[in-house]
Amino acid sequence: MPPHVRVFAPATVSNVGPGFDVLGLALNQPGDVVDAELADAPGVEIVEVTGDDGQLTTDPTRNVVGVAAQSVLSHLLATGRTGLDPEAARAPGVRLWLHKQMPLASGLGSSAASSVAGAVAVNELFGAPLTRRELLAHAMAGERVASGAAHADNAAPGLLGGCVLIRSYDPLDVIDLPVPAALRVAVVHPHCLVSTQKARALLRGRGFVIEHAVANLGNLGALVSGLHRGDLELIGRSIEDRMVEPLRAALIPGYAQVKSAALRAGALGCSISGSGPSVFAFAASDEVATRVAAAMRDAFHEAAGLDADSFVGPVNGTGAYRLDLP
Ligand code: HSE
Repeated sequence: MPPHVRVFAPATVSNVGPGFDVLGLALNQPGDVVDAELADAPGVEIVEVTGDDGQLTTDPTRNVVGVAAQSVLSHLLATGRTGLDPEAARAPGVRLWLHKQMPLASGLGSSAASSVAGAVAVNELFGAPLTRRELLAHAMAGERVASGAAHADNAAPGLLGGCVLIRSYDPLDVIDLPVPAALRVAVVHPHCLVSTQKARALLRGRGFVIEHAVANLGNLGALVSGLHRGDLELIGRSIEDRMVEPLRAALIPGYAQVKSAALRAGALGCSISGSGPSVFAFAASDEVATRVAAAMRDAFHEAAGLDADSFVGPVNGTGAYRLDLP
């Protein structure tokens, strides 16, 4: 049997209110699973994709898992870090199986979960020569294929866990933030689709007003400070986005009612998860987060006739991880 690994990569909430493209956090569930195996044939082959209702291609140049995997493989070969005999007649390849266990176009970082799982799986196959931070650029290659932009605010928390700030994209500078132990996240996914590519196109060419940028800067700084101080109330009142949320809210049926319902049910703060349609809220306990999630689901149903799933829990502190094989 050739070496075989299985990796889980979690869903993520990106933007987190005021932090468009620069802030993200990892959830415990849902997520994607990738199986990877060494192959004699060079390059990356996607043997099978499951759980996607036939929506995703197995072409490794167009499926994010293949793009991220190929990026890691090419890097390891080019830098001689595969741990294999450099004199071997043929460069090794990789076979992948992608098991989608989360909805597509959901605002939960579905493409990042696949990219991260693919990048981590290939790295693990070769004995993990690259650090999680070194894998980020490779996972971002997948994100570029998915949305046209290599944003890191889903891939970074998916790889590293926790809550992560992208201080700079060029050069890439990623900062881990502390997460208060009591903080809980309620995420509700209504059964409708928002394409990240379209949600990003909506922002292009907008003349954002300076007052709104000032408000977002203040809120982002306060949010980071709230995380450091463990001040849940400050974290909650910093979940305010004057720039992107007002434009994207129109893509999510019932959004205003869902947000009001979350706050009425006791949420500390509430905003769009990534590019939507999922909506996230922060809460100070499991009990409140569960109540908030139920109120948001009910509001999606009443305001927009949409069924919805929800996920409630703490922030995932570890990011992607290797699963035991039976
Ligand atoms: N920051 C990105 C956006 C995340 O909002 O477009 C997309 O998942």
